[in-house]
Amino acid sequence: MPMVGMRSVGDLTGPRDQRPDVRYSLTAVPKRIRLSSGAKVDALTFNGQVPGPALRVRQGDLVEVTLVNKLRDLGVTVHWHGVDVPNAEDGVAGVTQDAVPPGGRFGYRFRAEQVGSFWYHSHQAASQEVARGLFGPLVILPRAASGGDTGAAAGLDLPVMAHEWPTTHGHLVAFGTWDSLQREAVPPGTPVRLRLVNTSDNTTWAAADKQPRTLAFAGVPFKVAAIDGTEVSQPPDLENVRIPMGIGGRYDLTFIMPDHPVRLTDLANPAAGLLLSPDGRGDAVPVLTDAPVFDPARYGRPAPTPFNLASRFDRRFRLILDDGPGFYDGRFALLPKINGRVFPNTPMLMVRQGDLVKTTIVNRSHNDHPMHLHGHHVLVLSRNGTPTSGSPWWADTVQVLPGEVIEVAFRADNPGIWMDHCHNLQHAVQGMVLHLGYAGVTSPYLLGHATANRPE
Ligand code: C2O
Ligand code: CU
Repeated sequence: MPMVGMRSVGDLTGPRDQRPDVRYSLTAVPKRIRLSSGAKVDALTFNGQVPGPALRVRQGDLVEVTLVNKLRDLGVTVHWHGVDVPNAEDGVAGVTQDAVPPGGRFGYRFRAEQVGSFWYHSHQAASQEVARGLFGPLVILPRAASGGDTGAAAGLDLPVMAHEWPTTHGHLVAFGTWDSLQREAVPPGTPVRLRLVNTSDNTTWAAADKQPRTLAFAGVPFKVAAIDGTEVSQPPDLENVRIPMGIGGRYDLTFIMPDHPVRLTDLANPAAGLLLSPDGRGDAVPVLTDAPVFDPARYGRPAPTPFNLASRFDRRFRLILDDGPGFYDGRFALLPKINGRVFPNTPMLMVRQGDLVKTTIVNRSHNDHPMHLHGHHVLVLSRNGTPTSGSPWWADTVQVLPGEVIEVAFRADNPGIWMDHCHNLQHAVQGMVLHLGYAGVTSPYLLGHATANRPE
């Protein structure tokens, strides 16, 4: 029996009694797939595709997605990464639902309010299932203008999913299934938006590069038009910069297609990449291996924000990311820890609805940790003591490099129990996970070894 004044996660659903504007179904099926080089992957797919089908919806749409599990022996869920959905729609096994067993199905419903680039992925056994292909792009386009506009986006709008595939030949770095150079013909003058997502399960360090997972774009000046699904305020043109990408994060690059080739490259696999040219041929674009690094803390123009460094915060949390000895999978190992602990002994961040919350993340470890808070967007306030000075930098996944201290703030405006974890899924599965809880909200779901629910 529910306690008076308590709410269950299961009741915090999207609109259940209205007619959906768009319906999709995602069926998890195993499939042996082939990368462009010919390497084979024993993949797990949505609808037989990797990445899964691109879901393109409009702002204001009520979206219904039916998940069907046709995997032989694995449970599955779908999490809408970066979309601040009601808690029961968040797709986390053992926290917001039970994993959907083989043969089962589950319906998700949420209204698309944010505009931008997102992605979806399984949040059951994510460290295996996402690595093997259970992910895809989710794009929310601006509300259709009235007056019969079909809303077709002018130009080329291309999700680019930077992945690392487990193959019989080791791990291969690719964009989608392209682990060799992909060439596409694009007419000069075409407005292009590349929606970059880092979907890897582990950090790829490029050789001779101190940055984890770094992309480079060359051939024409471009803008980083959006970060984690939020438009940047007045982004200036960039040229000759490298773009480090934390796992789970998104950058939208925009430019006008010139009359010569341009090229996007992942420095962890410089022979591959995406080459756009007027005739779909050519490769004469130098790959930038040494150039300054794009800095979102100082890019674009300031604009008003609902709170800032000087605000009065209702709660303050401090997360120390570190390495420490412990047991994982029956073996003694150096584990990534939060405040000296691994899940389920990590702290629970407790808030009340309406609280303004500041979190300081201190990385004392030797790895990067892309920290992802579900259900909320955080405003990055400062890095290493220096206030951010460009466009407001809203994020759902904050890459924290070794030695860095990053302060973020958010408004607790989406009640529930939310995962907050490192999106290096190999760290998450070792316990680099905690939860944000709202006072008065309880979860009927259970996780851990005695259950079938293993979100990481
Ligand atoms: Cu991309 Cu916990 O999720
Ligand atoms: Cu980590």
